[in-house]
Amino acid sequence: MKGIVLAGGNGTRMHPLTLATSKQLLPVYDKPMVYYPLSVLMLAGLRDILIISNPETLPVLRALLGDGSRFGLNFSYAEQKEPRGIAEAFLIGEKFLDGGPSALILGDNLFHGAGFPKLLRSARRELDGCTLFGYPVSDPGRFGIGEVDAEGNLVSLEEKPSKPRSDNAIVGLYFYDSEVVDIAKELTPSARGELEITEVNQVYLKQGRAKLIRLGRGYTWLDAGTHDSLLSASQYVQTIQHRQGVQVACLEEIALRLGHIDSQRCYELGERMKNSDYGRYLMQVAQEVG
Ligand code: DAU
Repeated sequence: MKGIVLAGGNGTRMHPLTLATSKQLLPVYDKPMVYYPLSVLMLAGLRDILIISNPETLPVLRALLGDGSRFGLNFSYAEQKEPRGIAEAFLIGEKFLDGGPSALILGDNLFHGAGFPKLLRSARRELDGCTLFGYPVSDPGRFGIGEVDAEGNLVSLEEKPSKPRSDNAIVGLYFYDSEVVDIAKELTPSARGELEITEVNQVYLKQGRAKLIRLGRGYTWLDAGTHDSLLSASQYVQTIQHRQGVQVACLEEIALRLGHIDSQRCYELGERMKNSDYGRYLMQVAQEVG
């Protein structure tokens, strides 16, 4: 399975913050927002990752993340000229995916919780069609919403419904089999001119091949796409990191713990940033792991 991070869009909801920079480069406490979705794909065990963004942001993301080798990963980059919908990622990524299954994550989604890597890996193993993840929210009108029956099976999907049938938001992380590219090719743009990801999911649902995994109370999911949610995300990461003394979405640490890089390499990477807490943390983790 290969991964895609969709980190484009105009960020208009966050103006003026995003007039001269991209939303996915904004800080979530101590690191750029895009680190958080990347950490999720890493924890799912993926190593080949395509980063899609708009033409202005792509060179900056490339400067920030490079070819991925410092995290033991292979990054590819592709442009989305205009934000023509989340599902366009599969048209842009067709060559990269090369007929295989994929995980798509939105560049402004942050996940945290005990047991998440295990859950992701079992979702990968059991993938048959598409796997969506649900999370209870207090403002369901802002999201894609999934309704489930008494047995927990997904029965309906709606994008930002005016009268939500449940509070179960479909989060910005999606696992698909190899058919997703053909499904995306058949879509017609919505009223707002976008290829909607909910339409892709509807096709799988109609085929009886859409599974929903509900992330319960033990998980945190934040979509840092508004000023308030960005601040909440930063405060969340700050609280966890200060209280526990461990980093959230520290890509070099994840690479070390997954065996993608050794402790000497991790130490060197930390040393390059030793004026920051992040850099010193990497040096400390490298010494602990040994
Ligand atoms: O965060 C989860 C929600 O994400 C889901 O519940 C919804 O079903 C899904 O449609 C999406 O809703 P949003 O309102 O957050 O979608 P938005 O158009 O803001 O796009 C989400 C991110 O994807 C955003 O950070 C920008 C990026 N994006 C979006 C579009 C439409 C792109 O890079 N290119 C695009 O063409």
